Amino acid sequence: MYQFNGQHVIVTGGTRGIGGGITEAFLKAGATVVATYSGNDEAARNFKEKHALYGDKLVLKKFNVANSGEVENFFKEYETLFPSLEVLVNNAGIRRDNIIASMNESEWDNVLDTNLKGTYNMTRFGVLAMMKNRYGRIVNMSSVGGKLGLQGQANYAASKAGQIALSLSVSKEVAKRNITINNVCPGFIETELIADLPEDQVKEYKSQVPMKRFGKVEEVAHAVLFFASREASYITGTNLDIAGGLNA
Ligand SMILES: NC(=O)c1ccc[n+]([C@@H]2O[C@H](COP(=O)([O-])OP(=O)(O)OC[C@H]3O[C@@H](n4cnc5c(N)ncnc54)[C@H](O)[C@@H]3O)[C@@H](O)[C@H]2O)c1
Repeated sequence: MYQFNGQHVIVTGGTRGIGGGITEAFLKAGATVVATYSGNDEAARNFKEKHALYGDKLVLKKFNVANSGEVENFFKEYETLFPSLEVLVNNAGIRRDNIIASMNESEWDNVLDTNLKGTYNMTRFGVLAMMKNRYGRIVNMSSVGGKLGLQGQANYAASKAGQIALSLSVSKEVAKRNITINNVCPGFIETELIADLPEDQVKEYKSQVPMKRFGKVEEVAHAVLFFASREASYITGTNLDIAGGLNA
């Protein structure tokens, strides 16, 4: 597997779900990981305790990726703690599903602010940090939903398609600085994000997946480490579906 000894990695939403799996995979591969989160402190503390064997190689930070001031402060602090930034994984994301006629402004704004503006905020400051060493790998957690669309997910699908478009533009801007930016597009992955789906909908979605099952966080983490590796040096501005055959 890939080695990340001596590398510093930021994973937003890195203390649970897909992000938690990504954090674990980077720790196992030798990286120092700053896993960020918003919300539940106790769950984050439990995550830290569960990974106590990694000691100072796992650092947790709490802030809102949608708030540009909080993101700027996070990066100011980051620079005092770490000498470089090799990898940024923009994983933090939310869903607030509703059919378009009922979708209120805050459902639209919250999803776009977290998923898309959050990616912009983190990428902007992440690129600045990476440019200093003329090296970097950015991986954005998009979704097949951003290409297929699902009923009730106009806000979510728009935010995920926006991440893809953002990556395409940024890839062209930073290529000559040896910084790559790619997207992974998971299908249905077993996490708390989709735990609220009614049983009949889960059945229906599983029947649409050619592999007839939902994916595991480890299966997404594997692809993220591939894009983040030194070896993936000539791959930028691409998308990889991790969806059991449910491709757009
Ligand atoms: N689970 C799936 O089926 C699936 C499929 C495709 C894409 N995704 C994407 O994968 C990513 C992770 O999803 P998950 O299933 O692990 O979800 P999750 O709800 O388990 O985890 C989301 C994480 O994002 C963090 N977060 C949410 N809002 C934030 C904010 N404003 N600022 C900072 N952090 C914030 C949370 O603290 C949490 O750690 C999301 O971007 C999601 O859209 C998930």
